[in-house]
Amino acid sequence: MTGSNNALRFVLNDEDVEITSIKATETLLDYLRLTRRLRGSKEGCAEGDCGACSVLVGRLKGGTLIYEAVNACICFVGMLHGTHVVTIEHLSPANGPLHPVQQAMVELHGSQCGFCTPGIVMSLYALWMREPSPTVEQIEVALQGNLCRCTGYSPIVRAAQAASNYGPVATDALVVHRDAMMSRLRAMADGKTVDIGEGRDRLITPASVGDLAEIYAANPTATLVSGATDVGLWVTKFMRDIGPMIYIGHLRGLDTITEGEGALTLGAGVTYTAAAPAIERHFPQLHELWYRIGGAQVRNAGTIGGNIANGSPIGDTPPPLLALGAHITLRKGSERREVKLRDYFIAYGKQDRQPGEFVESVTIPYLPAGEKLACYKISKRKDEDISSVCGAFRVFVNDDGLVGMARIAFGGMAATPKRAKSVEDALLGKPWTTATVESALPAFAADFQPITDMRASREYRLLAAQNLLRRFHLETTGQAERLTKAVA
Ligand SMILES: Cc1cc2nc3c(=O)[nH]c(=O)nc-3n(C[C@H](O)[C@H](O)[C@H](O)COP(=O)(O)OP(=O)(O)OC[C@H]3O[C@@H](n4cnc5c(N)ncnc54)[C@H](O)[C@@H]3O)c2cc1C
Ligand code: FES
Ligand code: FES
Repeated sequence: MTGSNNALRFVLNDEDVEITSIKATETLLDYLRLTRRLRGSKEGCAEGDCGACSVLVGRLKGGTLIYEAVNACICFVGMLHGTHVVTIEHLSPANGPLHPVQQAMVELHGSQCGFCTPGIVMSLYALWMREPSPTVEQIEVALQGNLCRCTGYSPIVRAAQAASNYGPVATDALVVHRDAMMSRLRAMADGKTVDIGEGRDRLITPASVGDLAEIYAANPTATLVSGATDVGLWVTKFMRDIGPMIYIGHLRGLDTITEGEGALTLGAGVTYTAAAPAIERHFPQLHELWYRIGGAQVRNAGTIGGNIANGSPIGDTPPPLLALGAHITLRKGSERREVKLRDYFIAYGKQDRQPGEFVESVTIPYLPAGEKLACYKISKRKDEDISSVCGAFRVFVNDDGLVGMARIAFGGMAATPKRAKSVEDALLGKPWTTATVESALPAFAADFQPITDMRASREYRLLAAQNLLRRFHLETTGQAERLTKAVA
């Protein structure tokens, strides 16, 4: 194993920070507000929903330094080794001029009570650095994870469009000092495993995937933390003590994206944001779903590996991955095994994963030519909401117009993400017609006995699932206009 050191190091705004002792569950927001007295970042929900706590975290990736907005309330300090954390306090010097994004918010009346404003400014700052002249759509995507209860979003969108009128990106401090900051961060991330604290407060940041494999096999009761967009809530909402914690979200080797001959392989630590271009290229049918997973801050931190490993029945990636026949690679020590995703989800809260074993990657076969694929998410709110029902549909209709292959999978309909085998069987070998689809609808009740909860009733879920099959059929047979007519 690579040698280890006992200090966590990162840059907070302009200051080098070194921490040798901290609770594994200490959130960045608590650290900023309570320890550092930096109170610009607000706590609204403490569960990643409102964005009031948004800060930028800059990480070295692929030879550059990438700044992304994340929710400080569900980010642990232990996740920050070798990063640059930028808070609202860093944007303009005391008594100095406002930052262009702040000035635009003032001039265009983007703030009323101001509680959400620091978080909104940080999200817009990240966008402005990437896109100095953003479109309305880009602004809306950047703000999916920021709630404002009083201003209304139109003035905020106008401010985002106008930010560049108040100063160019090229003279922004993070851009001007990028090279110097990269050298500073490289010096901090010295290639050694960080191992601090003891017992439940032990916090380990392995230096490599090999080190992770060794450490986790020896400490199988530790909690793996990747983006912490699930685990963060165990701490802030359920007050769980998750230590000892092994942070894996930074690991080169878990963040690789391989666009192979027949399949796309994503390392378990690839975030939704990082995966988006490859997903768009190979599975454009998943575009809408992808941008309805969380908000930008959640997609910047959350990983596909975490979504699968968590095994939630309402996770959004398992239904399309099941429909596409994906498999995962699990690793324990130096041993690896491949498991088809359909065999991985065993029961509620139970997956085919041994103590000390972690998800290394997920491999998603490309859709063969001529096959049809769609994925639909139904939730109470369009943005930043968990699915009530998520359905993925894949069929192949042969030259005779008969269904030669059908793979249908759902989240929100059972205790695990699950294939609709009876519905598939009811379609197989039949003509891909309205009559076939209608005759297959009763089979949903054989596949699923959904529950009633705060997201939807059992009856709603069953009916929604059936209607999604109807929708898929209409869309794949050139009758999509009937959907809008039905609504009108
Ligand atoms: C505001 C908000 C909105 C959300 N919206 C959505 C949504 O729309 N759709 C959706 O599906 N989810 C949503 N989520 C849930 C969450 O973002 C996803 O499940 C995400 O993919 C989790 O990834 P992570 O890296 O943050 O996992 P973490 O929280 O770090 O870990 C989750 C679990 O996986 C384990 N784990 C992580 N990586 C590995 C690995 N490589 N091997 C083995 N175990 C591992 C951890 O130990 C833990 O048990 C939302 C969460 C929040 C806070
Ligand atoms: S406080 Fe609401 S997202 Fe962090
Ligand atoms: S200005 Fe009050 S919540 Fe946004």
